[in-house]
Amino acid sequence: WDAASGERQCSVSSLTCGLCCLQTVELESLLLGLERRIAQLHKDVSVLEREDDGELYGVLSLYVIENEMVEIRHLMDRLNSTTETDQHLTADAVQQLQNVTGPRVFTKGEYPGSYPYGAWGRDPEPEPGKESWYWLVMMTSGNKFSNYIRLYSSLSNVDIHPSNPTTNTIQGPNNVLYRGALYYNCYNQPEVCRFNLTTKKVTNFRLPEGTRYNSKGNFCQLDECYPFTDLDLATDESGVWVTYTTSQDFGNLVLSKVEEGEPPRLGQTWHTSIYKQAITNTFMACGVLYATRFKTKGVEEIFYALDTVTGKERFNLGILMNKMAPKIQALNYSPVDQMLHAYSDANMVSYKALFA
Ligand SMILES: *[C@@H]1O[C@H](CO)[C@@H](O)[C@H](O)[C@H]1NC(C)=O
Ligand SMILES: *[C@@H]1O[C@H](CO)[C@@H](O)[C@H](O)[C@H]1NC(C)=O
Ligand SMILES: *[C@@H]1O[C@H](CO)[C@@H](O)[C@H](O)[C@H]1NC(C)=O
Repeated sequence: WDAASGERQCSVSSLTCGLCCLQTVELESLLLGLERRIAQLHKDVSVLEREDDGELYGVLSLYVIENEMVEIRHLMDRLNSTTETDQHLTADAVQQLQNVTGPRVFTKGEYPGSYPYGAWGRDPEPEPGKESWYWLVMMTSGNKFSNYIRLYSSLSNVDIHPSNPTTNTIQGPNNVLYRGALYYNCYNQPEVCRFNLTTKKVTNFRLPEGTRYNSKGNFCQLDECYPFTDLDLATDESGVWVTYTTSQDFGNLVLSKVEEGEPPRLGQTWHTSIYKQAITNTFMACGVLYATRFKTKGVEEIFYALDTVTGKERFNLGILMNKMAPKIQALNYSPVDQMLHAYSDANMVSYKALFA
């Protein structure tokens, strides 16, 4: 769902968004009908103004206009019921993520036990020929920074910047790959960077004034916070998102759409009522923001959801995830295969997301 244009963008792979998309098609045809009727009404009124002789023509024109208005009323009623159904569907969508399976894919990675901070997943809109690729970014410098991204199964290795750390180096583990570009927290800045893997160029935009960065607004559990997790980039059917905190929001989580374009820019923003230090990670699925919290060393809970269409928050989802290691440093949903990809203390783990 594209917040700026108000359109839902359908992905064939997305069962969850399918219903919403059907509704949108009906909505669009109704709007088109309304637009044409109103143009006709305008023409008829002009004719009436020109030709009104106070007698026959005037009466006939008024009759035509009356019919026109009945049609418009009819279209508006249908529009009203369609948007209402749409809202119900959207409300249902919040409940659609019911549970997640146990780990489906599990690998200890290239350097078992090393580099506990990182992220991995799949590009929801891969370039042709790269449909089945996975990407991996490990924080190879002090759990904080990285300057390369690995792509499987080509095993190619692309350098983002030869020297590390410096501007345009990846800071923090919560990155995502989208349409062949890596989105991440720029080194030492409250900014989102986008590295184009084809051109190897970095473009960026600044988050709002007061955005906390450099390990000031981290994800936390009871015992500790996860360093350099100020920004969390996410992907879903509709594109790229970012969560962060600002001083004016008192450390509550803020969600923004990342608008693609050259350069990328900040899109629509939602202010949540969850305190970031009370959560361990976030991900997006079908325009809904989900947040997790640490329950035990073996179990994480998806407890919170914000529907960006209705603005409704829920705090009691109670969806449990069995972990392979105590901490989850990155979590991202891939609409291509409906999998949740978790980077957990150097382990790469996937869960199937089940939508009712
Ligand atoms: C839309 O439908 C609802 C419920 O049927 C009704 O209360 C409301 O007045 C309608 N709105 C318009 C603009 O017709
Ligand atoms: C990367 O650069 C290429 C070449 O300019 C462009 O076609 C492509 O859209 C860019 N990708 C992104 C995600 O900006
Ligand atoms: C998922 O739900 C099923 C029943 O709905 C339950 O038996 C199972 O324990 C749940 N799994 C997790 C990991 O919460």
